Amino acid sequence: MQKWFQKAKLGIFIHYGIYAVKGVSESWSFYHGSISYEDYMRQLEGFTASRFDADHWAELFRKSGARYAVLTSKHHDGVAMYDTKYSDLSVVKKSPAARDILGNYIEAIRKAGLKVGVYYSLMDWSHPDYASVYPDGRVPEDPAGGNKYSQPMDGRQDEKAWQRFLEFDRAQLKEILTNYGKVDLLWFDGDWERSAAQWGLPEFKDYLKSFNPDLIINNRFAGYGDYLTPEQGIPVNRPKGVWEFCTTINSSWGYQHRDNHYKSLRQIIHMFCDCLSMGGNLLLDVGPMEDGTIPPRQEAVLLGLGEWIRANEEAVYDSVAGIPANYYGDGSVLSEDGQTLYLFVHNVPREAICVKGLQNRVTRATILHSGKELGYTVHGGAPWNDIPGILWIFMTEEDCAESTTVVKLELKDRVRLYDGGGAVVTDNH
Ligand code: GLC
Repeated sequence: MQKWFQKAKLGIFIHYGIYAVKGVSESWSFYHGSISYEDYMRQLEGFTASRFDADHWAELFRKSGARYAVLTSKHHDGVAMYDTKYSDLSVVKKSPAARDILGNYIEAIRKAGLKVGVYYSLMDWSHPDYASVYPDGRVPEDPAGGNKYSQPMDGRQDEKAWQRFLEFDRAQLKEILTNYGKVDLLWFDGDWERSAAQWGLPEFKDYLKSFNPDLIINNRFAGYGDYLTPEQGIPVNRPKGVWEFCTTINSSWGYQHRDNHYKSLRQIIHMFCDCLSMGGNLLLDVGPMEDGTIPPRQEAVLLGLGEWIRANEEAVYDSVAGIPANYYGDGSVLSEDGQTLYLFVHNVPREAICVKGLQNRVTRATILHSGKELGYTVHGGAPWNDIPGILWIFMTEEDCAESTTVVKLELKDRVRLYDGGGAVVTDNH
């Protein structure tokens, strides 16, 4: 895994596509029949990208503190956001926008110094050869119970068509990986309708890496990805290995006019801290309107998040996962040398915050954004028996930031945690 990815901490996800015209859910709306396929595709006629300004996007993402971005180059609907030789179904050929959105985006993102990520849906519900086989090749008892966009409804599989489809996906991916300079990250989606063997793995992965050995691929690749991508529901337990949590600012990936179910900036910062605490990244999604404008409420969240990161930078990019929540409930991160512990404080304490089970001596406690020194004390414990007390750090409302406050704890040596269940003190002083 490339080091840059684990240090990036924040990425911006962009679901930009024709679904923003009517504000229907990306691809799923026709798949589930809330709009007909024809009406869905008619959105191509209304997709103008008339105010699309890739440099503005890139600058906004940079200001948000993100170190990478991931744009949908093709969602499950099969509509390419770039100029592909292998299909006419693209906003370049079929919409008034008539421009290579992906190309513009990649250039601007790279210029802004961010890493370039591209989302690509492996499944393609528009391609005539896609709905040719069943998951794992198993013909269901009732083929009519499937979905016509992803499975043959007559129960007959067409292996040749499937092989043609695989070639098509590979050809489109080659375009993406070779026409625009270096792509740092491929963000796959929609692997779940076929097995690894059907996708032609692991050869498929070798093929992609042959264009760029440093390429990072997410785990929606039938078990062959490089990192995990929990989605919408934040992990409660720390995922194993490298991971990135992707989520929306309101409830939709793409732009939906009626979706006002927004998370507040404080909630987003809280969630970001939760990711940091468990050693993961946050991939925060925006859904631009059809003209390319990022909705102002989403833009405001990005700018607010960036301000928070700048004020607390020390606890962000160079940090690693903190101590478990039973030691400190609001989440924390550690410096790489393990000698500084950064505690997240999401709400306003009345008197103090407390850390349990810390074996180290604290040498200093400060508020990270202001540098203000805090008082602290340890109560209880029997260090001579290796039983730590409770560390109380005094802080109240006046010490707090607008959103999550970070308390910096400097420790005498590398963090050491008590992991017992309590014990009798057999040698009392
Ligand atoms: C989902 C969906 C999709 C969305 C995405 C983001 O599973 O299929 O609409 O693009 O993954 O993570």
